Amino acid sequence: MASDQVLPVKGMSDLASPEIELWQHLESTARGVFSRYDLGEVRTPVLEREALFVRSLGDTTDVVQKEMFTLDYQGKLRLTLRPEGTAGAIRYISSCGQEGLSKRIYYIGPMFRAERPQAGRRRQFHQTGAELLGDPNALADAECIAMQVHLLEEWGLKRCRVQINTRGTVQEREAVAQGLRDALNPSFDDLCEDCQRRFEQNVLRVLDCKNPSCQTIVAALPNVVTFMSDDSQAYFKEVQHMLELLDVPYTVNPRLVRGLDYYEHTVWEISHDALGAQDALSGGGRYSIPVEKKAVNGVGFAIGMERIQTALAGEGILPEQFAGKPDVFLVSLGDAALKENMRTAQQWRRDGLACALHTTARSMKAQMRAADRSGAAWVVIRGDNELSEGACQLKNLSAGEQSAVSIDAVPGLIR
Ligand code: HAM
Repeated sequence: MASDQVLPVKGMSDLASPEIELWQHLESTARGVFSRYDLGEVRTPVLEREALFVRSLGDTTDVVQKEMFTLDYQGKLRLTLRPEGTAGAIRYISSCGQEGLSKRIYYIGPMFRAERPQAGRRRQFHQTGAELLGDPNALADAECIAMQVHLLEEWGLKRCRVQINTRGTVQEREAVAQGLRDALNPSFDDLCEDCQRRFEQNVLRVLDCKNPSCQTIVAALPNVVTFMSDDSQAYFKEVQHMLELLDVPYTVNPRLVRGLDYYEHTVWEISHDALGAQDALSGGGRYSIPVEKKAVNGVGFAIGMERIQTALAGEGILPEQFAGKPDVFLVSLGDAALKENMRTAQQWRRDGLACALHTTARSMKAQMRAADRSGAAWVVIRGDNELSEGACQLKNLSAGEQSAVSIDAVPGLIR
């Protein structure tokens, strides 16, 4: 068994070949899709002041109460590894003045949550997220959902399910909470311990409790939209109408609340049947986040990239399909041939060919085995005695055919 010194922390992992090539493909596809929707990339720091997350996500949320990696820096600063990307993105936006309030941005990067690691739940995971800044607007919410669904399709996912709901406005949050408390009150004693605590602090979270007895109670509750204003109900109807217009399939789930406090109006989650209990591929919604004395409004989402990899595997799309392969592997028989192969490879690489070779002398058999493992389509074999004639053997590994050719003809032949 490997020792602790060579293993990463539990719930965190190295990303390397073959997964990394899949991730590079997913990231470049995402950049392409986001640019078609007029979004620009932002890279915010991984470490931020703890207060930023407490203020933005809400101090009664699970993330803030239980899941933040926070360090005390010299007794002066409390710093937190970002558990999500929206808080930092909005901090950046609010540094851009008036112009920031209409920006359209995306981010790709690691997030950290101090959770008990299990399938689908990691301590370091990666999100691809987007934020469209601007005042509440049902059309923008629908555009954001449609963009996300488009991205999932471009990645090759076909079995995603979009569920949407509304949380109403920030102003009517208390009325909604009170309506729910009144409806839950007769069953208070039958709620689980967590929900009894949530009853006062964050009653909406009772709606998505996984405890079977809470679920029975929740199933008999009136739909939360009935506690909302006519305007909020009309806003939500408009989002649904736009999704139909944009050809985005969805279902309304009145029990969907999302775990972060900054949401208002539209919220959504996208799930996939290849994921187990943690079946959310991504989540998003419209939000209002306090910054100094103002509130910054926007709509956005974040997709969990580890879960995307699992969902892709469920649809038969595997990292190995994206493995990088050299165009040609150069086999050297003799010291002079090795040096000459290095010179040739350098020239070919400058011309855009991917070349692999060993820089130490090895047997022909060992080099051919390495060529096979590399996945190269072609092998060039050169011995010291062929150098003066400018000749080599060119072998096509899949066809097994080999012929003597001029070394200068190789790039043209393999292209
Ligand atoms: P979230 O639902 O907390 O939302 O996270 C989004 C996605 O990140 C989840 O659906 C899941 O795929 C992935 N994820 C979350 N926690 C973990 C974990 N411990 N291990 C693996 N994957 C995980 C947000 O983070 C919001 N900032 C989304 C947003 C952006 N809302 C508006 N703008």
